[in-house]
Amino acid sequence: MSKFYINKSYIKSENILSIEDIDALLQEGQFIVKGGNVEVRRLQIGTIMCFIKKYFYKPSYRYLGRCSSAFGEKKSYDCFSKLEIPHPQVILCAEKRVIGKLHWSILATQEIPEATDLVSFLMSNNDHTLRKYIIDKIACMTGHIHNNGFFHGSLRLRNILLTQNTNPFFIDCPKGKYKKTPIGRGFIYDLLSIYKDITRVCTQEESKFFIAKYCAKTGKNIQQWQQKLPQMCYKKFGKMKPLRPLPTTLNTTNK
Ligand SMILES: Nc1ncnc2c1ncn2[C@@H]1O[C@H](COP(=O)(O)OP(=O)(O)OP(=O)(O)O)[C@@H](O)[C@H]1O
Ligand SMILES: [Mg+2]
Repeated sequence: MSKFYINKSYIKSENILSIEDIDALLQEGQFIVKGGNVEVRRLQIGTIMCFIKKYFYKPSYRYLGRCSSAFGEKKSYDCFSKLEIPHPQVILCAEKRVIGKLHWSILATQEIPEATDLVSFLMSNNDHTLRKYIIDKIACMTGHIHNNGFFHGSLRLRNILLTQNTNPFFIDCPKGKYKKTPIGRGFIYDLLSIYKDITRVCTQEESKFFIAKYCAKTGKNIQQWQQKLPQMCYKKFGKMKPLRPLPTTLNTTNK
């Protein structure tokens, strides 16, 4: 069965009566990105500026009894709310199924105004104190979700947005899940994903600082993981090329 969800605290549902209405909304949006099976648009719904993501599927029974990516992402955001992890508000969510076969799913989130993703930020900002402050925050956020048995599933720096007042928000989490085992593959996958990105835009000292803060939050042995994580990362991804020439000196301010 097709289904949709509308967050009534944000928009009036009178004008949206069916999932076709939601699909039609998309045509008006400003195009942001198009990937293999996903496109993202920016659009005002009512008074709310939104980012709307539509996932396309080759219709099959693969998703029979399984969550679509849009509802999966909504579930992750619900978990982030419980864990007090900053994230955008879900405005609406819909999935189209025909005789059990999933055709598309849509998720609209409230825009985080004037946000920068962490790759862009860490590529261009040389303020040593601010960089450390943000690395500390994302290590603690990662540790916090892991401590609560939740993994993000797409924990990349491009999927963390920074607000103007330097608050990191987790986004793009359709694969997020709770796991019963404390050290499962999901957690390692998260750690490797984010650590790989960090090594490409941060100094070695900053990468070590991330591991130290993550371990402090999760009660892991810092020395062990300072050795283990770079080795695992090398084994999985090979030698990573830095994305930016890292300055030998970084500025210091009093953040
Ligand atoms: N709520 C939001 N507020 C501000 N910007 C957003 C929001 N949601 C998405 N974006 C912007 O749109 C981009 C694409 O969104 P998102 O990461 O969810 O899609 P994706 O296509 O799955 O990305 P990826 O390339 O990581 O697979 C984000 O990197 C971000 O710049
Ligand atoms: Mg993304």
